[in-house]
Amino acid sequence: MNPTSFTFSDRLAGGPLVSDALRAAAGRELARLLADATGPAAFLEVPGDAPSLDATLRAAAVVPARFTKVLVLGIGGSALGTQAALDALRPMPRAAGAREVRVLANLDPVSVADALAWFDPADTLLNPITKSGTTVETLTQFALFADRIRAARGDAGLREGIVATTDPERGALRRIARKLGCPALDVPPRVGGRFSVLTPVGLFPIALAGYDVAAMRAGAARVFAALDPAAPLDHPSVRAAADQVALMDRGAVVRVFWAYCDRLASMGDWLSQLWGESLGKPRGDGAVGQTPLRAIGSTDQHSLLQLFMEGPRDKSLTIVTVGGAPAMPVPDLSDLDADLAEFAGKDVSAVFDALRAGTTVGLVEAGRPVLGLHVPALDEAAVGALFAHFMVETALAGYLLGIDPFDQPGVEAGKKFAHGLLGRPGMESFGDQARRVLGATGEPR
Ligand code: PA5
Repeated sequence: MNPTSFTFSDRLAGGPLVSDALRAAAGRELARLLADATGPAAFLEVPGDAPSLDATLRAAAVVPARFTKVLVLGIGGSALGTQAALDALRPMPRAAGAREVRVLANLDPVSVADALAWFDPADTLLNPITKSGTTVETLTQFALFADRIRAARGDAGLREGIVATTDPERGALRRIARKLGCPALDVPPRVGGRFSVLTPVGLFPIALAGYDVAAMRAGAARVFAALDPAAPLDHPSVRAAADQVALMDRGAVVRVFWAYCDRLASMGDWLSQLWGESLGKPRGDGAVGQTPLRAIGSTDQHSLLQLFMEGPRDKSLTIVTVGGAPAMPVPDLSDLDADLAEFAGKDVSAVFDALRAGTTVGLVEAGRPVLGLHVPALDEAAVGALFAHFMVETALAGYLLGIDPFDQPGVEAGKKFAHGLLGRPGMESFGDQARRVLGATGEPR
């Protein structure tokens, strides 16, 4: 399966949305992206990395049966993709022995306390994930949960109760795994965190949740295999990247991911990180990027639609539809009120779809740029394909914009001040500077 992309936007632009120059650039930049698969665009090689799939499945297979639950610790690219896949796949059949998997993706003390109350070292495997092995949130979480395991089951409990996922060589988590002698899976060093869901980062917990991760990878592989610089815009992901860049040129500074599917809400969170962190960059004297905004249909027809329809013309909308809805005819209760006759006998999905179609037409008629993406059936292959689709769209948009979509230098400044405030040796001056800015109240002055 390959998600199908189609566009209404050519009509809005009063001619082709993608100019001849942009079409030529798309072919050129796609060729460059494919050549970079052995370098910074290593995410393109992940679905073909059979040894890492085998290692993940072997590690999952030997998790003792007593672990009926799994707690993932991680943040950003080490958590969002897993949560997106778990939510998207929730109604799918799960393999025998499937575990209950929970992702702790923040250091909010209330969420941490809640997870600690849920966590039982006797039946819960800990899967800390950090590519760098140095992330404050994840290491702090780790200290809390590892301490709980050690108190209950000693050092042997730590060895048996933890599977770490991290850089093969570097970082605190790798050192800890070596010291404990607990199993550890590798995050390929060349694959960026937000592009890593199809590595052991996502595959291990998703496999333990009982889903077919090989099918997920196969879905992604099909999207990557169809990339062809000779016919760039025939590929939905390339077309989507070119469309987005064309719309950015026309002033779309907000990118709305609007899924008519509750199961894709956290896919929107994953895409927000991918799109925001990859593309929000300085360029020349200015800056590029689009603010991601996730919406859910039809819920947000009663919330954000007014803004989309009549607010500033600064948005591009991607409306995502999903097929395979369960049949559910609406009973005829028109004896209670004549207004109910409109829905009587129709399927719930037909009513839902009419709402989506009506809104789409309204937006098109109002001159708002709407791109569409349809997923025929939201299974493992489709989830893998969606991840792959958005990774290509994002990376290629970065290339077309002339920035590096794989770095995130802007997030480092805040980390230095946080380490300074926490008292890390050598970072004292950042701590002092932070205290000067924050003042006695602890709030910015
Ligand atoms: O995309 C990225 O590299 C980041 O957003 C990371 O995913 C995030 O900061 C977490 O990093 P790590 O996996 O090293 O803990």
